Amino acid sequence: MKIAIVTGASSGLGIEFVRQIEDLYVGLDEIWVIARREQRMELLVKELKTPLRIFALDLLLENSFTIISNMLEKENPDIRMLVNAAGFGKIGDTETVSVKSQTDMIEVNCKALTQLTCLCLPYLSAGSRIINIASSASFCPQPGFTVYAATKSYVLSFSRGLGSELLNKGIVVTAVCPGPVDTEFFDIAGSKENINALKKLVIAKPEQVVRLALLDSVSKKSVSVYGIAMKIINVALKLIPHSMVLKIIRRL
Ligand SMILES: NC(=O)c1ccc[n+]([C@@H]2O[C@H](COP(=O)([O-])OP(=O)(O)OC[C@H]3O[C@@H](n4cnc5c(N)ncnc54)[C@H](OP(=O)(O)O)[C@@H]3O)[C@@H](O)[C@H]2O)c1
Repeated sequence: MKIAIVTGASSGLGIEFVRQIEDLYVGLDEIWVIARREQRMELLVKELKTPLRIFALDLLLENSFTIISNMLEKENPDIRMLVNAAGFGKIGDTETVSVKSQTDMIEVNCKALTQLTCLCLPYLSAGSRIINIASSASFCPQPGFTVYAATKSYVLSFSRGLGSELLNKGIVVTAVCPGPVDTEFFDIAGSKENINALKKLVIAKPEQVVRLALLDSVSKKSVSVYGIAMKIINVALKLIPHSMVLKIIRRL
């Protein structure tokens, strides 16, 4: 059975991946979708030609991974694509955001992504793809969004290291590093008013970010950055010392 697995499939980038994966892969038997909001994923069933297998699971709970692991063992699928899109951020200085929110960010953005990837590895083979959603926040520390940015630096580093390990097996790993995207992300991160003027100027549509991510994965790119503004920021942050960038961010 050929399958794709998508986390964060109830909203934003994840739901868009489910929609576009169907166009990319002819002959997928099922797409396994993972998120907490079951009804949202059920709505997708009517939209798609490929059968969906819905896992209404909270990735903060260890039992969720037992359920996925048991299902993988039972079905022994050929995973053609794994998309780790589940994630969230909380805006605010580290001393003001609750400790639970900060550790939950690490759990979902880093631990769950790593755990699911490791569980899936035995079922991936030559030509399989892993897409991990990092962020442009991974390029540099971000005061006021410190823990989130740190989790995304982890995702970028993990993806690049894993991609190198899997190169000889023909498995492609792509870290997606978008700037702001028009999803529910900022409703959860804080209020939409927290999006500064620069972010409003460069905000992207999830359809565009996902389309490029899939094209970059097909082109075997290790990193996918949507939009000219984010590409410039990415290059600039490799050239300018981060201490100087942090001073500029504080002033903004
Ligand atoms: N939007 C942006 O500006 C932006 C920019 C760069 C990177 N990103 C990254 O892109 C990814 C997708 O975010 P998005 O923009 O699409 O935001 P979103 O619309 O809020 O989607 C987040 C998804 O993650 C799932 N999720 C969150 N916590 C979960 C948990 N404990 N268990 C299972 N699923 C969980 C949510 O599903 P349920 O709530 O149904 O569980 C939802 O499907 C995230 O990793 C985010 O960090 C977003």
